[in-house]
Amino acid sequence: MSGFEMSGAGLRGQLVVFEGVEGAGKSTQLQSLRHWLEQSGWQSWLQQRVGTAVPPIVVTREPGGTELGQQLRRLLLDSSLTEGEGLWDRTELLLYAADRAQHVQKVLKPAIAQGALVLCDRFTDSTIAYQGYGRGFDLDLICQLNAIATMGLESDLTLWLDLEVQQGLQRAQARAQADQPEGLKGKDRMESADLSFHQRVQQGFRAIAQDEPHRMVRIEASLSEVQVAGQIQAVMEEYLQKWYPQRLNP
Ligand code: TMP
Repeated sequence: MSGFEMSGAGLRGQLVVFEGVEGAGKSTQLQSLRHWLEQSGWQSWLQQRVGTAVPPIVVTREPGGTELGQQLRRLLLDSSLTEGEGLWDRTELLLYAADRAQHVQKVLKPAIAQGALVLCDRFTDSTIAYQGYGRGFDLDLICQLNAIATMGLESDLTLWLDLEVQQGLQRAQARAQADQPEGLKGKDRMESADLSFHQRVQQGFRAIAQDEPHRMVRIEASLSEVQVAGQIQAVMEEYLQKWYPQRLNP
């Protein structure tokens, strides 16, 4: 449990985060988990727990989980910003932090206070991996900035989809081409960074998983979609039973 302060009467939700390098399959697996929660009965049990007035499951992402965040996401991923005066690394770091501050205040904090199970595509570990290990910012500085943006909110479980960098970049490239058949868009600004940058990012995720095994669980993401989903479901079942033992022993 994080040091995050509750504003309600103790009905705290949980924050589950998906992390990984480009093309690791986070978005697909997040949707697949959402479907499993519905099929397995957890969603309706959570709905009874929080009451009918609020959503039991909230799906969101960083950057881009708020209206302001969607504008920041456009800027952060805009590949035309690799030209001209460009986007300074320090500006990039602060824009990710600004997106997070808005997201925590407007989406995550209220949802968790209402008891929701929040599924979030990326969170603080992405800043450690991409801006810390990838861009080379001091890790203590990143932790301080994360603390300012999150006001102490930490994930209760982070699922790290571990995929070899080149395999992920190929998947991301294929997806970009499928989305834009005329090749209008192609790679986004972050995907366009060189291979060594993405390899440092991968090292970052590996280091976090080693340092914080209680919070970050490694998922072997090179397997088929169904096999990856199976691993995630097994981990989620274990954590859900730990968080909500009253479901089995009412
Ligand atoms: P996504 O499409 O996986 O959501 O990608 C968003 C991009 O932003 C991805 O390249 C990772 C990057 N990113 C950071 O560099 N730092 C951060 O703090 C976050 C949340 C994302």
